[in-house]
Amino acid sequence: MATTITSTIKLPSGYEIPRLGFGVYKTPPEETERCCLDAFKAGYRHIDSAAMYRNEEGCGNAIRASGIPREQIFFTSKVFDISYDAAKAQVDKSLALAKLDYIDLILLHKPMGGSENRKGAWKALVEAVEAGKVRSIGVSNYSVHHLNELERHIAELETEGGKGKGGVVSIQQVELHPWLARKDIVDWCTQRGVAVQAYCPIVRGNRWDEPALQRLVKKYGKTEAQILIRWSLDKGLIPLPKSATPSRIAANAEVFDFSLTPEEVKGLETDEYSPVAWDPTVSRLED
Ligand SMILES: NC(=O)c1ccc[n+]([C@@H]2O[C@H](COP(=O)([O-])OP(=O)(O)OC[C@H]3O[C@@H](n4cnc5c(N)ncnc54)[C@H](OP(=O)(O)O)[C@@H]3O)[C@@H](O)[C@H]2O)c1
Repeated sequence: MATTITSTIKLPSGYEIPRLGFGVYKTPPEETERCCLDAFKAGYRHIDSAAMYRNEEGCGNAIRASGIPREQIFFTSKVFDISYDAAKAQVDKSLALAKLDYIDLILLHKPMGGSENRKGAWKALVEAVEAGKVRSIGVSNYSVHHLNELERHIAELETEGGKGKGGVVSIQQVELHPWLARKDIVDWCTQRGVAVQAYCPIVRGNRWDEPALQRLVKKYGKTEAQILIRWSLDKGLIPLPKSATPSRIAANAEVFDFSLTPEEVKGLETDEYSPVAWDPTVSRLED
């Protein structure tokens, strides 16, 4: 069946995540409720926020004001301070700010903090799932060495606490687009069934002039942003485009009436390593 805006992917946790997300990084707190309501009107059912964005309250207000049943909306937040105590406290703070009974997905926002703190922060997320506060958990900005360490931590937590105490990694969220395809990370996740969210999926508008992109813009009569969002979808990723502009919020969701061929997906991808955001994946395990 063709992918639509309500299509989902089943996560390792067993919960479903909508294929298209709506990012709210840098969305001003006072505009966040309006932006999320515009997104719901355009058909999005998946909001990507974070404690660090300081707009979880507006996201929660929009979720309640939308009239859409809570279980049809997928809400993500992220923990920025990486330690057991900070992560445990942040889960409760995010729930209180958003005024929600549960959060669909919480990610560790970055790998920095040192090995013991990463393990502790992960343990806090596992406990939040056990307590019914969070449904799925994952990480963001982890490279393969961080992901391998996380697998070791999960095995240690199982040994220490018993079966199921290590938790399940459902998501890895990283910057990902044709100029930063991160094959090693995507392969790691694909081999384990971990879903990959692509942030900066439209490269913050920085690559509109690329000839390969312009050829597809002309062929499909779509905008540059729509072609790049479709590239993510056709790669099996979960793109998280952000906009605070009503017309762009709507247009960025109009990507389900066409698809790229496998050759076009491959043709757009480059060997470049050109992040447009911060890049914590390059941090060392001791950072
Ligand atoms: N985990 C992490 O560390 C991390 C890091 C960065 C981002 N993220 C997540 O990923 C989301 C997306 O990343 P991002 O916001 O950095 O970058 P992005 O989605 O690639 O680009 C957003 C920028 O592009 C503009 N834009 C949106 N639609 C457009 C269109 N159709 N035509 C032209 N310009 C358009 C937006 O402007 P207007 O808003 O003015 O329309 C905004 O300036 C974030 O909001 C956040 O949820 C996560």
